[in-house]
Amino acid sequence: MTSPELAQELLAIARSIAQKAGEMLTDRPENLTINQKSSARDFATHMDHASEALIVREILAARPDDGIVGEEDTQRESKSGITWVIDPIDGTVNYFYDLPGWNISIAAKDEQGVLMGLVYAPTVNSLWHATRGGGAFKNGRPIRVNDPIELGSALIATGFSYNTERRKEQAIFIADLIPRVRDIRRLGAAAVDLCNVASGSVDAYFERDLKEWDRAAGVLICREAGAVVTGRNGGIEGEEMVIAAGPALHAQLVSEIG
Ligand code: IPD
Ligand code: CA
Ligand code: CA
Repeated sequence: MTSPELAQELLAIARSIAQKAGEMLTDRPENLTINQKSSARDFATHMDHASEALIVREILAARPDDGIVGEEDTQRESKSGITWVIDPIDGTVNYFYDLPGWNISIAAKDEQGVLMGLVYAPTVNSLWHATRGGGAFKNGRPIRVNDPIELGSALIATGFSYNTERRKEQAIFIADLIPRVRDIRRLGAAAVDLCNVASGSVDAYFERDLKEWDRAAGVLICREAGAVVTGRNGGIEGEEMVIAAGPALHAQLVSEIG
């Protein structure tokens, strides 16, 4: 099977799983049990765990030899060369408060990197997907990043770390940036922030401390939509920093952020 054929097979599996998880999560229980993680700001609900259990069960039913990395503690080695990277609810705080934008983020990677990424946000009727070399789509339609955009007219999404000291630094940085851009958005879900760059609903996005499950699907979707995605100083994106924008704005943001 060629890579594009495999990517399409993985995409079909991801789409069906995301729809099932989306239905389960949309039927939101009145009471959510929460367990604290790194701080009072960082928690998972019992629905995060239920969503991860559903996704893992469905992946293994379809492809028992694949590896899986999931935010809520799933770690399975791959015997097939494919590893899934899943965030069962990205935007848990939004989910908890019944705000829109929370999503299910599902990516699959091979030895060359992410081959397929899908982000499904039922509250905003949006399903973004991309396959490596195959373009990026929102609800089945091709999407493209906004470019060229000047910093002064840029709408920029960002997020704040769960770490208190990091938050203070981020507030100082934003205070300096906000008078020089069109505006800032803190929507509360990293995967949708990245997809919004891809489909032109914001001009750029940057954030520190993103884990692999926050960014795997969204970064591929961004790149396939023509965005440049890097870390600091144009290096490889990672936990230290993710900067995503069209080429012109990306260059300006890299010089702002370092
Ligand atoms: C978080 C959200 C948030 C971002 C955090 C992420 P979670 O993911 O994407 O927008 O600012 O960095 O950890 O914890 O809700 O899956
Ligand atoms: Ca997340
Ligand atoms: Ca999550």
